[in-house]
Amino acid sequence: MVEKKSVKLYINPGNSLLLSGRGRTEVRQGQVEILGAILSKGASFKVRLGRQIPIFSPEFKSIIIGEGFFKWVFVREDPIPSSWRAVIDELLVKPNSTIVIIGQTDSGKSTLSQFLSNSVLNFSKVVGLVDADVGQSDLGPPGFISASLVRRKVIDLRNIKPITMEFVGALSPSRAFEESIDKVKRVKESLLLYNPDYIIINTDGWLDNEGVAHKKKLIEKIKPDIVIELCQGESLIKEGSYKLITLNPPSHVMKRTQVMRRLSRLANIVRFLKGAEAKVVKRDEILFLEDHEPRVGDVAAVYENDIVRGIALYGGELEERKEIFYTRVNSFTKIVMSDINAREILDLIKGKTGSA
Ligand SMILES: Nc1ncnc2c1ncn2[C@@H]1O[C@H](COP(=O)(O)OP(=O)(O)O)[C@@H](O)[C@H]1O
Ligand SMILES: [Mg+2]
Repeated sequence: MVEKKSVKLYINPGNSLLLSGRGRTEVRQGQVEILGAILSKGASFKVRLGRQIPIFSPEFKSIIIGEGFFKWVFVREDPIPSSWRAVIDELLVKPNSTIVIIGQTDSGKSTLSQFLSNSVLNFSKVVGLVDADVGQSDLGPPGFISASLVRRKVIDLRNIKPITMEFVGALSPSRAFEESIDKVKRVKESLLLYNPDYIIINTDGWLDNEGVAHKKKLIEKIKPDIVIELCQGESLIKEGSYKLITLNPPSHVMKRTQVMRRLSRLANIVRFLKGAEAKVVKRDEILFLEDHEPRVGDVAAVYENDIVRGIALYGGELEERKEIFYTRVNSFTKIVMSDINAREILDLIKGKTGSA
């Protein structure tokens, strides 16, 4: 039997290991905490490419086995700032609150939403998550605003299935200022039907002048109980009808390059296209963009009446008035195109299905 290459990493009590993938890991000894989730001996999980996971060993000497490709750093501290942990106490006394998280790109927004969700699940049953970061989404594909109900702690937000999605069709809400806000509101409202204990809304990192105006408008429309701003210096927004909490980004965030961001987006698209097949669509069922000639591999949203059912990739023209799309959605009434391109994924799907 071929032995897989593996590494054995020791974490001293009170220290942590920052592990970036891609690979699979297992807790061999001790007990660790990953963003509010406790993992004991025998627990295993994956670390995907381009993501750094902080593994904290609060009390014991822990051993982590890594199989695959890893980079790692040891730090002599809790990777979660104490100010982040203090927020949990505030949430404990504010059940049923809606929390909006804002901050620059790579300030730790997704990590904070995951940490908060995992942590409040210690004393609540169900958390509603809204992912409104259309450029670096985790719950839904890029270009979509998605919402999920979470009942269990997770190591990776991408393991959660969205229950409802809206399509923005761009990697930044700057191209859909009002529309993106309305769509966040809609997915949030659909979560309310399930009566979650908390709703946590993660946003995009667009925070120049116009971006700040967008976040203010979003806050005005969503009416959260708490806004958490991740920032180093001065706060970009003021307290209002909501409580404003400003937190520092963690000291060890990993800045991602444009290439890493794109790879991360492509990997996220693949998730929603497993089992996708070529479907013939009549041109009058497709909403094309006015100023964009469709390219093979362009991302589209598949609608059944007014409900987003999933994602499709444009496969090209078949014959007059008919086009090909690759999707796993079977029943649809409309396809809405975008100029987000994922040609590489289309090639992958075609290679696998062996179709034209
Ligand atoms: N406390 C931390 N310790 C180690 N790595 C972290 C920590 N917080 C975030 N990171 C890593 O830094 C990167 C950026 O964080 P992320 O939450 O994705 O930022 P944002 O959502 O604001 O773009 C991610 O790879 C994440 O895993
Ligand atoms: Mg993020």
